[in-house]
Amino acid sequence: MLLTLLARLTRDPKPLAVLDTHAGAGAYDLTGAESKKSGEAERGIARLMEDPAAPSAFDGLKAAVRRLNPDGGLRYYPGSPWLAVKALRKGDSYRGHELRPDDYLALSAMLKREAGSVDAQASRFDGYAALEGPSRIRRLVLIDPPFERGDEYAQILQGLAKALAQPGTIAAVWLPVKDLETLDAFLSGLEALRQPILLAQARLRPLHDPLKMNGCAMALVGQGVTGLGVEADLESICGWTAKALGEAGAAARLDRLPPP
Ligand SMILES: C[S@@+](CC[C@H](N)C(=O)[O-])C[C@H]1O[C@@H](n2cnc3c(N)ncnc32)[C@H](O)[C@@H]1O
Repeated sequence: MLLTLLARLTRDPKPLAVLDTHAGAGAYDLTGAESKKSGEAERGIARLMEDPAAPSAFDGLKAAVRRLNPDGGLRYYPGSPWLAVKALRKGDSYRGHELRPDDYLALSAMLKREAGSVDAQASRFDGYAALEGPSRIRRLVLIDPPFERGDEYAQILQGLAKALAQPGTIAAVWLPVKDLETLDAFLSGLEALRQPILLAQARLRPLHDPLKMNGCAMALVGQGVTGLGVEADLESICGWTAKALGEAGAAARLDRLPPP
């Protein structure tokens, strides 16, 4: 979904700034201990890479994975910083915030190596704090937290209120889908910001067990998100994910708020 969004936003010749509040390490070694523990990313991306009928909305991601694994196989997987700097143009900028010292170092090294003519920098500071400052440029804010803290949803809403007050800002927030109460409460908070919202969800099973990761969602928020022309791609990405990776009762949905 990030690549779909960047492809649309970079059609406009005006410079684009990407502010990634939770950047991670940049790219991941799927043979590493963390990735092996969950096996989740590996299963999902392996299914995608071997499915010739996967929708064309995934072509950019597939090409990125092939580029990171030139000898074939599936060892390296691109994170948001890698995808962003490869999609951005000369004159665009990327700022990635990462608190974990080892991931920050890996991120800085990756950006030095891979960013080319894109003005790209890593910061070791809190990504939410970066949403507070003024901005006068066309900007995409990416928020992809680990959701390990109880106040994560509140922090996202506070950060969005500040960031979206700046003209030219839109935001993409990655969300886990565990239970409807949590999702609905967050959506009410988003609606209170009084900005257009597109919510794309891939539910992998009915939401009976709130302790499980039952799916994931991306909320796009800000003036202009419903006019970007990304709906068809978001629908096909979520549709494939639910069908290929889901269980009985899996479903995809796309909501536009307020409704048209
Ligand atoms: C889900 S991962 C991000 C993945 C990344 N967006 C990607 O696509 O590869 C969340 C990251 O946020 C970092 N983190 C947690 N709280 C943070 C904060 N307040 N500011 C910046 N980074 C934070 C964690 O160390 C972790 O690496």
